[in-house]
Amino acid sequence: MAYAITQTCCNDASCVAVCPVNCIHPTPDEPDFGTTDMLYIDPRSCIDCGACADACPVDAIFPVDMLSESLKPYADVNARFYDGKPVSADVLGSSPVFHNWGAPTFDRTISSDFPALDVAVVGSGPAGMYAVEDLLLHTSARVTLIDRLDVAGGLIRFGVAPDHPSTKRIDETFARYREHPRLTLRLGVEVGKDVTVDELAARHDAVIYAVGASSARSLGIEGEQLPGSVAATDVVSWYNGHPDASDDVVDLSSQRAVLIGNGNVALDVARILSSDPGTLASTSISQSALARLRSSSVQEVVLLARRGPEHAAYTEPELLALTRHPDFDVVVDNHDDRVAKAIDAAEPGEKAQLLRSLVQEHIDWSAPPVGGRRRIVLRFHSSPLEVLGGDRVTGLRTSGSESDVDIAAGSVVRAVGYRGVGVPGLPYDEAAGTIPNTAGRVQGRDGTYVVGWIKRGPSGGIGANKTCAQETVAALLDDVRNNRVQPRQPRKLAGLLRRS
Ligand SMILES: Cc1cc2nc3c(=O)[nH]c(=O)nc-3n(C[C@H](O)[C@H](O)[C@H](O)COP(=O)(O)OP(=O)(O)OC[C@H]3O[C@@H](n4cnc5c(N)ncnc54)[C@H](O)[C@@H]3O)c2cc1C
Ligand SMILES: NC(=O)c1ccc[n+]([C@@H]2O[C@H](COP(=O)([O-])OP(=O)(O)OC[C@H]3O[C@@H](n4cnc5c(N)ncnc54)[C@H](OP(=O)(O)O)[C@@H]3O)[C@@H](O)[C@H]2O)c1
Ligand code: SF4
Ligand code: SF4
Repeated sequence: MAYAITQTCCNDASCVAVCPVNCIHPTPDEPDFGTTDMLYIDPRSCIDCGACADACPVDAIFPVDMLSESLKPYADVNARFYDGKPVSADVLGSSPVFHNWGAPTFDRTISSDFPALDVAVVGSGPAGMYAVEDLLLHTSARVTLIDRLDVAGGLIRFGVAPDHPSTKRIDETFARYREHPRLTLRLGVEVGKDVTVDELAARHDAVIYAVGASSARSLGIEGEQLPGSVAATDVVSWYNGHPDASDDVVDLSSQRAVLIGNGNVALDVARILSSDPGTLASTSISQSALARLRSSSVQEVVLLARRGPEHAAYTEPELLALTRHPDFDVVVDNHDDRVAKAIDAAEPGEKAQLLRSLVQEHIDWSAPPVGGRRRIVLRFHSSPLEVLGGDRVTGLRTSGSESDVDIAAGSVVRAVGYRGVGVPGLPYDEAAGTIPNTAGRVQGRDGTYVVGWIKRGPSGGIGANKTCAQETVAALLDDVRNNRVQPRQPRKLAGLLRRS
């Protein structure tokens, strides 16, 4: 009986290195790596040793025969990835064979003449922590880790949904590095406010910015600023108890809420708004959000997607989990013929195929929801045109298959992506929402680097930041070797910090 990888996989590839028979793919040196929703175990080769399950930081791996009812489909999801692919030649030979990918391509050697580097890492989310891990494990650098919040973790703490506890557990791995003897942790310090970019640069050999993308993209449609129209960014902060979040950010007094966008963030928000508060009570959800959800009137959450089900932004594991959630139903709005056609035509393993088991329904959007069990409606091929309402939101005008359709709703949530925020003193690309860089080197500022969402833009799961951090740290070390980073006179940061 093989093992299988399940919903919470964040693609960090920790399991790949420990598999004695190289049956977890794609590996970091394979072209597909980073393009798949998760990694997959080949059931034909797995020898059931369990090493991968021990190595996984988010508890995503289980023996197939121990999968819970809701995780059972992942056995097929894993196996399907290998359909038509040959069993690895290594595995057919005399096993065990150990992995067969090459050595890391990033050079981490620095001349022993160079004194121990002093590196500041700004931001304690996954990108900052993978950079810290790389520096502490592979160099003798001393690291100062800075975050503007009093709690470390970035989006692991304040973004990942509270009902995904095993994903949040990856912070236990990062916490070990925050206690490393060569690391100094400075929480509650905002760069650009409590200390300037230049002051930080003057006190370190190099500074890596891992400040994420904390604001929200806007749509630029009329009515977007009406009370009752909010960004998913704020809703996520609210249910995770972010210190900047306000208690009443989302209106829960009407029966229908519309979410614009169908990425994984939209799925998270839809799931939290639709789950039984009794179920949520055992999670890390903020107590004030839970109290408000207990008296919520929301019966129906609509996920609005401008493209078809074959191009949905959510990942397969997250949709699969949504459709099997015990607290609510998921239905498809069949207003457009292209939706049913795409679902019927989908091959096994394609996103649209997952919708085949769902009820397709024609919905009267001018009427309130039907009542009964809570439900999530997936509406495809429909763009937001205008947020409707006088003093506050009463609905959303959307494009339909033949004419515009007004969806009556008391709450509209924009889940159309996060957006970077510039750091005063550093260059900023307003259009992309990123700090301009080449392989992590900030343009025009020697010794300054970026990593994570502020480097690449706001997409990719936790594991995507690992290779991103390896590239940035490699650029830094390359600059040290080539004298583009010079050792500085050590000066203390402590006296400089002023809290406002
Ligand atoms: C709602 C949501 C849920 C997600 N859930 C998952 C999931 O379940 N699984 C998964 O694999 N991926 C998930 N992701 C993606 C994952 O969270 C990101 O890939 C990752 O957090 C990006 O890391 P980062 O370090 O670049 O940014 P962040 O995690 O945002 O970290 C940035 C850090 O920088 C700090 N900071 C910002 N500005 C300053 C400053 N000026 N001075 C000092 N500190 C500063 C912030 O306080 C923050 O701690 C989710 C993303 C979102 C938005
Ligand atoms: N594994 C997890 O559980 C998890 C949870 C949360 C987030 N994450 C990751 O975090 C990253 C960010 O997620 P995200 O959901 O914020 O972003 P995303 O995946 O980029 O999704 C953004 C959504 O907004 C839509 N959109 C953008 N502009 C629009 C417009 N003008 N009008 C209508 N719709 C518009 C997009 O539609 P188009 O597709 O048509 O552009 C898409 O549906 C992703 O990589 C995600 O996988 C992972
Ligand atoms: S159980 Fe062992 S053989 Fe199977 S995938 Fe995991 S590490 Fe590889
Ligand atoms: S989270 Fe990492 S270790 Fe766990 S299954 Fe996914 S790639 Fe493997």
